[in-house]
Amino acid sequence: MPDPDTFDFVIAANRLPVDQTTDDAGNVTFSRSPGGLVTAMESVMRGREGAAWIGWAGETGEPPAPFEDSEMYLVPIGLSDDEHVDYYEGFSNDSIWPLYHDVIVPATFKRRWRTAYERVNQRFAQKIADLAAPEATVWVHDYQLQLAPAMVRELRPDVRIGWFNHIPFPPVELFMQLPGREDLLWGLLGADFLGFQRAADAENFLRSCRRLLHVHVRGDVVQHGDGRTTRAAAVPISIDSHDVYELAHSDKVRERAAQIRKDLGNPQKLLLGVDRLDYTKGIRHRLKAYGELLAEKTLDPADVTLVQVATPSRERLQAYRTLRGQVEQTVGQINGEYSPIGSPAVTYMHRSFPREEMIALFVAADVALVTPLRDGMNLVAKEYVTCCADDGALVLSEFTGAATELARGSFLCNPHDIRSLKKTIVAAIDAPEKERRAQMKRLRKVVLDNDVQKWAGSFLDALKAAPERPAS
Ligand code: ADP
Ligand code: F6P
Repeated sequence: MPDPDTFDFVIAANRLPVDQTTDDAGNVTFSRSPGGLVTAMESVMRGREGAAWIGWAGETGEPPAPFEDSEMYLVPIGLSDDEHVDYYEGFSNDSIWPLYHDVIVPATFKRRWRTAYERVNQRFAQKIADLAAPEATVWVHDYQLQLAPAMVRELRPDVRIGWFNHIPFPPVELFMQLPGREDLLWGLLGADFLGFQRAADAENFLRSCRRLLHVHVRGDVVQHGDGRTTRAAAVPISIDSHDVYELAHSDKVRERAAQIRKDLGNPQKLLLGVDRLDYTKGIRHRLKAYGELLAEKTLDPADVTLVQVATPSRERLQAYRTLRGQVEQTVGQINGEYSPIGSPAVTYMHRSFPREEMIALFVAADVALVTPLRDGMNLVAKEYVTCCADDGALVLSEFTGAATELARGSFLCNPHDIRSLKKTIVAAIDAPEKERRAQMKRLRKVVLDNDVQKWAGSFLDALKAAPERPAS
């Protein structure tokens, strides 16, 4: 790939798709970064001409030089130790993250964090301004970079600026708790187009603008007063479903899936949960429901087993440490009380896996348990329906963005209601094969028809046409 000075297509996200790790001997290795943003944007960026991805490379201190990886040109942004604490762990993940996820845990606010958030957003904006070719397309991602759009606009009025929120946008009654809330809204209004996972998220944003900035909002367009406008609308994200489908149907993955089932003692029903270990994902609620079903003997651990993958995430934050303790204690308790010798009731894995291994797990599972208390989209739900057997079943929380598209065909649940969650899990396990096949056919069609390339195309069309709606 050539190394030009400027790029026609520049994206910025807090993280690069790869995380750098340097060991004590100074050896550098790279691993895939966690999360749905990387899953989606990697497919959009790989092999794209004239494109650069700006983001943090996963270690504090001086950033490495720009480099190429998997046909992507990656430009690292540096974070100091203090900025990692204040911008990333603090304002992004201890203030904004809980507030935008219905305050499942309380949000914390510190003035120092906000200053670091502004400083890091300015650094990203400056790098974008330096790398963007004249009239380039700039695509900023997620809640860590909500001030950057206006900062880029200030530095480079010639470029087209879009922003996509991978997580929910909260109701104004919650959003208004955030210190510096008006600055954040003005930061976003630096963009020409703002994409959200659900129409409800876009509406929440527009309502916040009206209420807190007193700007005029016409339909889905904010009129700034100086003649500028910003359109805000839903563009639900997806996965590279055709690629994932191919992989799921390869001999190698099928054989691995069969081996996984065999290693688990060929259970009649294999239940699967795959999540970052985050309090938004409803892992505790899922385990509680499963544990009670075993206790009541509704489920027999000789027939049914649960595999729970819980990817390490934000491990220095107290709320995540507490959650890890609770989850691991519950897994231990369930296994202690109900596991037959040699076949655990819960197989718990707190680590990352190669992509093929994840897909083999989706192929192997009879039922996926996707039970977040709140989730912007949840790509795991889309991955499961793309990969699983034709008679698989998806238990899906109403509080995921995915439920907007996948409600019909899923076993929909309210994870807060443990009694009904238990009933839903049992319904998914016991549903007649014919019903499961019909449901899965529908779900799979939705995901295959709406893949990540279509999502990116829709976003970029909307960005180009804003403030008008794109033609189709
Ligand atoms: P989030 O972005 O909140 O983490 P998503 O469900 O949208 O949640 O996306 C998670 C992505 O990370 C999916 O592509 C999933 O397959 C992947 N993933 C989750 N856990 C692991 C793991 N342990 N190893 C590798 N990939 C994982
Ligand atoms: O989807 C939400 C998100 O924050 C993404 O930005 C990211 O892909 C994922 O969660 C992982 O979070 P972190 O970058 O904090 O590890």
